[in-house]
Amino acid sequence: MPPSNQLASSALDLIGNTPLVELSRIAAGLDGRIFGKVEFLNPGYSKKDRIALQMVEEAEASGVLQPGATIVELTSGNTGTGLAIVCAAKGYQFVAVMSRGNSAERATMMRALGAEVALVDQCPDSLPGQVSGADLARVEEVAQRITQERGAFRADQFQLPGNAHAHYQHTAPEIMRQSGGIDAFCDFIGSGGSFAGCARYFKEVDPAIQCYVVEPTGAAAFAGESVTRPKHRIQGGGYTMAELPLLDRVLVDGCLNVSDEEAMAMARRLAREEGLFAGFSSGANLAAARQLLKSKHRGGRVAILLCDSGLKYLSTDLWRGDYD
Ligand SMILES: Cc1ncc(COP(=O)(O)O)c(C=O)c1O
Repeated sequence: MPPSNQLASSALDLIGNTPLVELSRIAAGLDGRIFGKVEFLNPGYSKKDRIALQMVEEAEASGVLQPGATIVELTSGNTGTGLAIVCAAKGYQFVAVMSRGNSAERATMMRALGAEVALVDQCPDSLPGQVSGADLARVEEVAQRITQERGAFRADQFQLPGNAHAHYQHTAPEIMRQSGGIDAFCDFIGSGGSFAGCARYFKEVDPAIQCYVVEPTGAAAFAGESVTRPKHRIQGGGYTMAELPLLDRVLVDGCLNVSDEEAMAMARRLAREEGLFAGFSSGANLAAARQLLKSKHRGGRVAILLCDSGLKYLSTDLWRGDYD
């Protein structure tokens, strides 16, 4: 990305180098500081623009991806939006495969960016806004079929190391430069790519930095807890997967749980008190950061990602009704 006072050559140059902001109003009354990485200022309004660019460029460099090829990916919307942007700028066809349980804004935005969107019905007992592991398995099946039928490149965010590399090479070094140092990092996991890339970098530059995985209460499979509530509300992750290919457990210092209510309350406070309009998982990260400042990291500096924009959830009840 060029400095902001220079002409960018395409949308690709606008990915990354997001600001880091101190959340001092939300941390008021707690002993310590919280730094939020404003990932919703990426061109697709989420951190996933970074991995879309990295996965595509690594595939180009290895020769797997040829000019004019079709790219397919399973997405809860954000990776798909990132891929749609990257494919538009680079001239690839893109097919996004998404559960109908994810918010409608995401499919609309991907289509606007030129993507073909294949929507997959949820399991009969699933609810919109609550995409379970079983729902995701259906989406995976369709993504595999379309990839095969079209001879496409699968930009598999759960498998391709480019996902974690994007955060190792860019997100985490940016956080270290901008903050001057942190004591802890906590992150709500989907593919685990953000956590893995950031935690690896943080621990290399300062092994004292403690890194915590965040999962929904009742769906903390990675933490080894029994799954009693797979249908949580925190979109973008919490898929109840006990193992994630990109996430090496040596990087994990601890696991935290956040309830739907806590995540939503924190997303709302972030908007009202800090003027930062972000989604459910940003609220989850913030709730987890507050837990750390109240316990093990009292007096410390905790970094989190503000993963995506609140605009992606206008059709959900995150912003609807009287929630005071
Ligand atoms: C809004 C949001 N938050 C969190 C995550 C989880 O990030 P990761 O896949 O890097 O674990 C995602 C992933 O799709 C997401 O879209």
